[in-house]
Amino acid sequence: MKKIPIIIGLFAVIAAIVISSSCATTSDIASAKSGAQLWGENCLRCHNTPSPETFSDTEWDVAVMHMRVRANLTENEATKIAEFLKTAN
Ligand code: HEC
Repeated sequence: MKKIPIIIGLFAVIAAIVISSSCATTSDIASAKSGAQLWGENCLRCHNTPSPETFSDTEWDVAVMHMRVRANLTENEATKIAEFLKTAN
């Protein structure tokens, strides 16, 4: 509950960045990026993501599946992030 104003603030910042950088979204370039890079760029936008050791492989699969929707990731990006998290836990 206490996190909500922070999240709203972050959304405002993200919206400003997205609007000002127009079409520089992750879609095309993303496939060239590593899972670690994608994780750093996408998963810290809204919250401090727990360190990879926090969750087991199965738990990361579920978390990434949920966060894929929120972060608007492609399947390829989500898979790379999940793979990175699972090798780092
Ligand atoms: C658009 C904002 C947004 C993005 C981007 C995002 N998250 Fe989240 N995340 C949330 C919100 C909001 C919650 C808390 C509510 C919920 O669980 O649905 C959350 C919760 C979580 C949790 C559960 C935390 C806990 O302690 O139980 C994990 C794990 C997580 N996110 C990981 C990730 C990962 C990994 C990514 C990158 C693939 C990511 N998040 C990207 C908004 C986001």
